[in-house]
Order: sequence, then C-alpha cells, then structure tokens
Amino acid sequence: MTDTAKLSAAGKDLDLKVMHGSVGPDVLDIRKLYAQTGMFTYDPGFTSTASCDSAITYIDGDEGVLLHRGYPIGQLAEQSSFMEVCHLLLNGELPTQDELDKFSYTISRHTMLHEQLATFYRGFRRDAHPMAIMCGVVGALSAFYQDSADITDPQQRMIASHRLIAKMPTIAAMAYKYSIGQPFMHPKNNLSYTGNFLQMTFGVPAEEYVVNPVVEKAMDRIFILHADHEQNASTSTVRLAGSSGANPFACIAAGIACLWGPAHGGANEAALNMLREIGTVDRIPEYIARAKDKNDPFRLMGFGHRVYKNYDPRATVMQQTVREVLGELGVTDPVFDVAIALEEMALSDPYFIEKKLFPNVDFYSGVILSAIGFPTTMFTALFALARTVGWVAQWNEMISDPEQKIGRPRQLYTGPTQRDYVALGDRK
Ligand code: SDX
Repeated sequence: MTDTAKLSAAGKDLDLKVMHGSVGPDVLDIRKLYAQTGMFTYDPGFTSTASCDSAITYIDGDEGVLLHRGYPIGQLAEQSSFMEVCHLLLNGELPTQDELDKFSYTISRHTMLHEQLATFYRGFRRDAHPMAIMCGVVGALSAFYQDSADITDPQQRMIASHRLIAKMPTIAAMAYKYSIGQPFMHPKNNLSYTGNFLQMTFGVPAEEYVVNPVVEKAMDRIFILHADHEQNASTSTVRLAGSSGANPFACIAAGIACLWGPAHGGANEAALNMLREIGTVDRIPEYIARAKDKNDPFRLMGFGHRVYKNYDPRATVMQQTVREVLGELGVTDPVFDVAIALEEMALSDPYFIEKKLFPNVDFYSGVILSAIGFPTTMFTALFALARTVGWVAQWNEMISDPEQKIGRPRQLYTGPTQRDYVALGDRK
C-alpha cells in the first residue's frame, strides 16, 4: 500500500507519496513538486528536510537514541572497539574475529604517509591550527594516491576508504608533533589503531613509548562516540562534494573544513576554553545569564543540538569516561567540577528546559582530552580523525546509490528584478 498526503498548491491538488523508513519519521516525496507546481519548498538549515535515505545511523532526538547499523551507542562504547565500529559502519555488520583481524591488518598496512607529504608540514607556521593542516594535507592526498581516486571503481573506493581511516591518525599526530617542534614518529603496526595513534602523538625517538591501557581504552571509546552521526553538517558536506564526482580525499577535506566551525566539531575546543574562562563554580550564573541574553552572542558551548531535544547519549558516556579516566590517572581538574556544576545549573534553568538544551558530545570530551595531554587546538582534529569512518561510509553509500545525482538546491530569490545597465557617467 502506498500512502499519500494531499497538498493543495498553485491551484493544484497533489497526492504526494509518503515514504516509510524502518524506524523514525516518514517523509513526503517532493521530488516532482517543482515540475507539478512551479514552487520550491523552503527550509534553510534543513530543519525538516531529509536529504537522502541511509541505512548507517539512526538518531531519535526526543528519546536520546543513537544507533549505528541498529546497535545502540552505549553498547558499542561499552563492549566494542573503534576498529569493530569502523567495520560495522563500512560493511553493515559487526565483524567475526577473522573479519576483524583481516580488517585491522588492512588498516595497519595503510598507516604510513608518502614521504613527500611530510614536507607539506614544513610549509605551515608552527602555530598553524591543526585543522588548517588537516584540511591541507588530506586534500593533498589526492595528489599522491591517484590509484584509488576513481570513484566508479568499488575496489578503488574501498582502498581510498581504508587509506583515509588509516592515515588520519598519522596526519593528526604529525600536526601535533610539528606544532611542538618534535620529530614525526612512524606508525608501529604491532600496536592497536588507537595505541599507535598515542605513540605517534606522545612517543619520542629517544625512548620506547609504553601505551597506557587506561588512556588507550578511553581514547578508543572517544573515537567510537565520534564515528558517525547521520546527516550532520560535515557529513552533508562530504555527500554534496561527492555528488559532483569529486575524489574521496577532496570530499573528506571538505568535511574537515565544515567540522572546524564552532557550531559543529569546533565546539569541543570552544567548550573547554569556555569552562576554563568561567574558571570557578561561583562564576557560572554570570555565564548562564549571558547565554540567555538575546543581545549577547555568547552561547554555552557544548550545549544544545539540532536533533537531540533530550540528553545526547554520547555525553552520558563521555561524562562517565571522564570520571573513570581522571580517577584512574589520579588527575583532578577543577574544570570538570565547573562542567558538572554548569550542567546542573543549566538543566534546572527554565530557559534551557524550555528550549530543550542539553549537553552534547562536545561538552565533556575536552576534559578527558586535556587530562590525556592534548592541547585544546587538537580537539577538533581528533573529532575529524574519528569521524572519517562515518564520512567515508556515508560517501560510499551515496556513490553506490543508483539514484544518486549531483546535489543542487534552489532558493527563494529576494534580489533586484531585471534592470538595464547604467553607464558609469550616468550613475548618481
Ligand atoms: C555537533 O548535527 C550533529 O549531529 C552535530 C554533531 C555530530 O556528531 O556531528 O552532534 C556534533 O556539532 C554538536 C553541537 C556542537 N555545537 C555546540 O555545542 C555549539 C553551541 N550550540 C549551538 O550553537 C546550537 O545548539 C547548535 C548549533 C548545536 C544547534 O543549533 P540549532 O538547532 O540551529 O538551534 P538554534 O540555534 O535555532 O537554537 C534554538 C534556540 C535559540 O533561541 P531562540 O532563537 O529560539 O530564542 O536555542 C538557543 C538559541 O539561541 N540556543 C542556545 C544554545 N543553543 C541553542 N542558547 C544558549 N546556549 C546554547 N548552546
């Protein structure tokens, strides 16, 4: 049975097809609306628009539910590993032990960078933001890995996907090393994906780096929490770039650029900077007042979400992980106390309750990353590292969709209607 919805517009009565997913809101198929009515829909920010169909991630913002290929994020964070989640997002199923071993081996064989790419770093100032370096170096990968840039070849698409997942930790670690003037560390394939990232970041050639299992597990869980999130701004950027047939490296570079914004992935850096600026619990009311003041552009960074109108399930896991990591590392951080108090005060304030503003994934992540030893400027680069698997999974899904076509939105034009050119001498 095909459901329809009636629409009366431009003097016409239309039956619009209602499409049903496996779970979540139905959608109105408006693909023929313009042809039938000469009208567009209007939805800046896409608050009520489904841009595609996807089988990868499902979010129920009212219930605070996040599923990756049907598996709840809480279970994956607790019981899985980032390599397992990468296999799940890319291939649709949790791997068997043999599949996981093969996948992890494949990824570990792509962790090195072409040696000439190391010279790209020397072109940046030492104080360049790591996200500027990530945009540049990831975009440049297409100049070195042309043998996996043909998007019409599924084999090349999968090699490019593996290369991107494998090389992001190397690229991010090199950005950090460059910023502190230490030598780049080579990948070590005898370590886990996350352990290898930690040794490339914090290891030095002068001595053997010993991976701290507490930190390795926390970092791996943070990567899981950031892996994918439906059609967020940066994923939509990757899909739109990919819809033109651009190579996968260019598409991921576009996603990194979008993620950098403080309203999106840049919020984790902004949130910790905000918590540090607040400094003490007694100053929280001043900042909550500013966040509520319409004349003040200040917002509580790490709070609010386009989809979650309930607690972001990732923030719940992140807060638990902060307690574990700080406890096991024997670290106390007054910023965490400020974060906990700020959450309590905000969630009891009518403004935040009415607008359904809860902590999101970015609110607590910085506390852990800071405790592990990352500077705030690296936080969004770590988000990009983890989100790469989600970007490439969504990109692959789009490219292999037989109905895929270039994305090309229209507009409501509000500029001048046609007028004739005025010669320079005749202008007033
Ligand atoms: C991520 O999309 C994703 O899935 C993203 C992400 C992912 O995994 O990919 O989850 C990652 O980007 C998380 C969000 C990180 N950003 C921040 O923490 C920045 C602070 N948050 C806001 O800028 C805001 O909440 C957004 C951008 C996250 C969502 O903005 P929306 O959906 O466009 O909502 P809005 O700006 O229209 O706000 C609705 C109301 C407004 O008030 P009114 O105009 O209705 O009076 O809520 C207010 C806003 O002023 N509001 C806030 C607020 N967030 C929204 N007020 C104070 N502090 C805030 N943080």
